[in-house]
Amino acid sequence: MALFLILTSIALIFVAHKLYHRLRFKLPPGPRPLPVVGNLYDIKPVRFRCFADWAQTYGPIFSVYFGSQLNVVVTTAELAKQVLKENDQNLADRFRTRPANNLSRNGMDLIWADYGPHYVKVRKLCNLELFTPKRLESLRPIREEEVTAMVENIFNDSTKPDNTGKSLLMREYLGSVAFNNITRLTFGKRFMNAAGEIDEQGQEFKGIVSNGIKIGGKLPLAEYVPWLRWFFSMENEALVKHSERRDRLTRIIMDEHTLARKQTGDTKQHFVDALLTLQKQYDLSDDTVIGLLWDMITAGMDTTTITVEWAMAELVRNPRVQQKAQEELDRVIGSDRIMSETDFSGLPYLQCVAKEALRLHPPTPLMLPHKASASVKIGGYDIPKGAIVHVNVWAVARDPAVWKDPLEFRPERFLEEDVDMKGHDYRLLPFGAGRRVCPGAQLAINLVTSMLGHLLHHFTWSPPPGVSPEDIDLTENPGTVTYMKNPIQAIPTPRLPAHLYKRVPMDM
Ligand code: HEM
Repeated sequence: MALFLILTSIALIFVAHKLYHRLRFKLPPGPRPLPVVGNLYDIKPVRFRCFADWAQTYGPIFSVYFGSQLNVVVTTAELAKQVLKENDQNLADRFRTRPANNLSRNGMDLIWADYGPHYVKVRKLCNLELFTPKRLESLRPIREEEVTAMVENIFNDSTKPDNTGKSLLMREYLGSVAFNNITRLTFGKRFMNAAGEIDEQGQEFKGIVSNGIKIGGKLPLAEYVPWLRWFFSMENEALVKHSERRDRLTRIIMDEHTLARKQTGDTKQHFVDALLTLQKQYDLSDDTVIGLLWDMITAGMDTTTITVEWAMAELVRNPRVQQKAQEELDRVIGSDRIMSETDFSGLPYLQCVAKEALRLHPPTPLMLPHKASASVKIGGYDIPKGAIVHVNVWAVARDPAVWKDPLEFRPERFLEEDVDMKGHDYRLLPFGAGRRVCPGAQLAINLVTSMLGHLLHHFTWSPPPGVSPEDIDLTENPGTVTYMKNPIQAIPTPRLPAHLYKRVPMDM
């Protein structure tokens, strides 16, 4: 009887709530939600594809319920502009799940902060201090060392007598560049030695990252039905342990750098030294410093690996494009030196290859969700305060209404028309747009272009034995960031003199 009463009350509350919303707001159409679970039962694992399909049925703006939480998905460049430009400020909050809330100390970092004075302060710090062209340039030696280390490793592995003609799992090599680059950039540490072995602190770091992914990957219904959270209190303990472990390691590293600064009087360019020396000036709590450091790791590591992995898959699938990029590299760089980021301006086709990869395979296809801090109108519909808004940038970048032959990997399209990808052209938004646009965009573009340039200048890439280029599988893995489901494997054939395959070490 008690159970019956509880269930009836839940159903009644749900119906009353729905009715109130229906009468008060003109919400975007969408699939019919069920009580308690909403549409969660119906969403396919690869969400952005599912949402693109639903847009065909319900239109370019539709509602979808995660539990009782209203989400709105937009799927055209015009609607993206309404979200990210015309209503930018009112749609700049974040929805925080419990793990995000716990790790960010209620949004005291950048990624998970709601739009307000704290956000404005840390964003200003990012724009004026951490991601300036000057700092980007001074950190270039780290990127170039890591990219040349990758080339050396690929060369050594592929020229071992047993390995000639064998394919390599590219993700391993790309992942190492991203890992070492981000740990050196944020923590001023290379946890990996030249043989690829990770030291004790690095193992702890990796353990924390993978535990974070495990915790963040669990999206129980309770995240969207607040009163259900009570039943999941056990998970809170795991969360607290995880954040204590993360803070402990970070504080040890911060202390090491503080000591080194005192001893040498020298402030390094990496983010730990930058944040600790600016902490007073910007009035940052320790939680914010730690939160910012981990934001960079969360946002900047996988996204780079994913972009280059997809780009390489497309280049193996499209030998014509690969050859054209190599012809440009041979013409501009030649074969008696290696490429550097300073060569980019003379390599327009290479830059277009990176851009085309980010168009067809944005690593965060639904960006990061925004939350409405006030009710607004988008596409003639009401978006009530508290709704979560997603821009399906993957679908927008494949929309036949704004792209010619959208499914074709054809970098030339950007030679014919220069399309901005850093938030000014709403057809191409791999980094988002507006006040929450990715602050690491230029850094990411530099690293991605550099990795692609070196991979193509040093090697010709072909599919594994028995696989033809058109058989390369482009299926996506589910998740907030979109890895390839079947990681690309390819055979590298060196194309430069052997002495150009050496890592260029930098002491930073
Ligand atoms: C190819 C690589 C990358 C892609 C495609 C990418 C994409 C994005 C996107 C779509 C957002 C969300 C924008 C929004 O909410 O409207 C974002 C946010 C962010 N990204 Fe990136 N990102 C990349 C690399 C990086 C790197 C290398 C860093 C730093 C080292 C970084 C740091 C951040 C941060 C801190 C935010 C949160 C900004 C905020 O909430 O205000 N990202 N990125």
